[in-house]
Order: sequence, then structure tokens, then C-alpha cells
Amino acid sequence: MNTKEQRIKIAVQKSGRLTDHSLDLLERCGLKFTQSKDQLFCYGENMPVDLLLVRDDDIPALVSDDVCDLGIVGLNVVEEKRLQFENNGGEGQFDRVFQLDFGHCHLAIAAPEAASYDGVASLQNTRIATSYTGILTDFLARNNIQAEIVYFSGAVEIAPKLGRADFVCDLVSSGATLSANQLREVETVFESEAVVIQTRAPLSDLKQEWVARILQRLDGVLQVRESKYIMLHAPRAALAEITRLLPGSEFPTVIPLEGQPDKVAVHAVCREFVFWETLENLKSAGASSLLVLPVEKMLA
Ligand code: PRP
Ligand code: ZN
Repeated sequence: MNTKEQRIKIAVQKSGRLTDHSLDLLERCGLKFTQSKDQLFCYGENMPVDLLLVRDDDIPALVSDDVCDLGIVGLNVVEEKRLQFENNGGEGQFDRVFQLDFGHCHLAIAAPEAASYDGVASLQNTRIATSYTGILTDFLARNNIQAEIVYFSGAVEIAPKLGRADFVCDLVSSGATLSANQLREVETVFESEAVVIQTRAPLSDLKQEWVARILQRLDGVLQVRESKYIMLHAPRAALAEITRLLPGSEFPTVIPLEGQPDKVAVHAVCREFVFWETLENLKSAGASSLLVLPVEKMLA
């Protein structure tokens, strides 16, 4: 096996809603990379990890075909491709291995604002435009609805105006696209967020080691996102109450304070967002010298 094959390849969306966040996340995992002139390839300088920047719709197939070992992509795309493989009598050779908790959006059926809608039965014998034929077919079957699915590869939202469909089934994030086209959501079909998928092709030990390391670092990055390190002074007598008030922290470190037998210093990692109210409550319980610091890295 040559050395090139020992490098991990991660497929990332080239330009779109997931791009910046995906690259930022990988940088936080310690990856430094240089981008090729055509901006389609990022070479990892400090780890054997390279990025391929591609259309999001292509990511599941690239991972399934073992061109890439990992991919960062929306669950909507993963599920659509999984169903397409299944409908063709096959199986996508990839597994979802990690949820990234960003890129939250959902696939929804939307109707022209003026049209009446009275539950899924209103979809019976209508035409629905979508790029997500697999997920929509599945949804309609589960709801016993017969409808014509009109495939659009993009700009689905204009289908009703063109007279090509009665409804659309498309991805909704902010909702701006729907309202700009006088459409309103009537059914949620599928909830999505960014996930990591991994090829089912066997990896060399070295590659497997790096994949495990990347996933562990991603986990660390996600865990610290809302975490804060809190330091405060507390009267010994109030320790139980103060510990109870610390959000998402089970075992604070309690340190004696020189020359202050009745007081201790308390240090704790809080794994939930720390609100001003929490600090005010801690102060009311007797805490003083409160400090809240960001947590940069964490390895459980
Ligand atoms: C989706 C969808 C809409 C838009 C909705 O496209 O097709 O056009 O996003 O987002 P909004 O609710 O914030 O307006 P996407 O960016 O995924 O492009 P793609 O389908 O070409 O990948
Ligand atoms: Zn796309």
C-alpha cells in the first residue's frame, strides 16, 4: 500500500449551508490545511487527513464507493441516497457514525399561501414537486396518500407558479425561500442536521486509528461548545447548595483557602450554558469572587 492510501479523505460540501461550519469544526479538531488552486482539495499539513470539497448530493456516493473514508453531510441527503440505493435493490455502503448538532433544518411540504389545507388527506391525488423523491415517496406511503411526484433538481419552490405542481416538498432552514415564494409549510416530512458518515470499506489500522481520533476530537469540540469553567469562593456551610446550583456539573473540585478556615474555593466544569441568573443565584447562596472562563478543549 502506498503512503497516499494511508491518508484519510473527508468529503465536505463545497459551497453551501454546511461548508463554513464543517471546515471550522475540522480546524477546531486541530487540522491545518492548504487549499488547492481550484479550491476542490484541501491538503492536511499536520495530519494525514485531506478534504475533498464537493456537491453535498455527491457525498454519500463518494463515501459508499470508498473514494472518501468520511463525509460531513446533511441527514436529509444521507437518507435520500440511502432510499435511492434501496429502491435500486442495493444498499449504500456507508454508516452514520456521528451527529454534529449543526445545520438543523427540515424537509417540509409547503402549499401556496392562498390554498386551503386540511391535513395529509389534502395531498390525495395532487402533484408534489421535490428533489427528494425517495423521502417523499416513503412519507406518502406511510400516510396512504396517492400523489404524483414531480422531480425538480433545483428551484423546487417555483413549481406551483409554473403550474407544474400543487405542493412542493423542500428543505426549510430559515423559511426565507418559502415566504419569498408565497408558500407556507403544511407538513414536516423529515428532520435533519449535519452528520458524519463513514465508508463500510475496511480501513487499514492506521486509518482506523485516525478516524477514531477525529471522531473523539469532534466529540470533544461539541462537548466544550457550551461548557464553561467556573471558579468561585464559597462559605463551607453553603457548599451543598452552591454545588446544587452549578449547572451540569457533578463533581466540583473543592480547595481550602489559606487562612480562611470557613471558606473554600470551588472549581467546576459546567456542561450547560451559564446564565447571568445562575451567577446571581450562586451569589445569593453566598458565593463570591465568581469567574466564568471558556473551555477550549476537553478529553474525557
Ligand atoms: C435549500 C432549499 C431552499 C433553501 C431553503 O437548498 O432547496 O432553496 O435551501 O433555505 P431557507 O429556508 O433558509 O430559505 P440548499 O441550500 O440545500 O441547496 P441545494 O439543494 O442545491 O443543495
Ligand atoms: Zn445539494
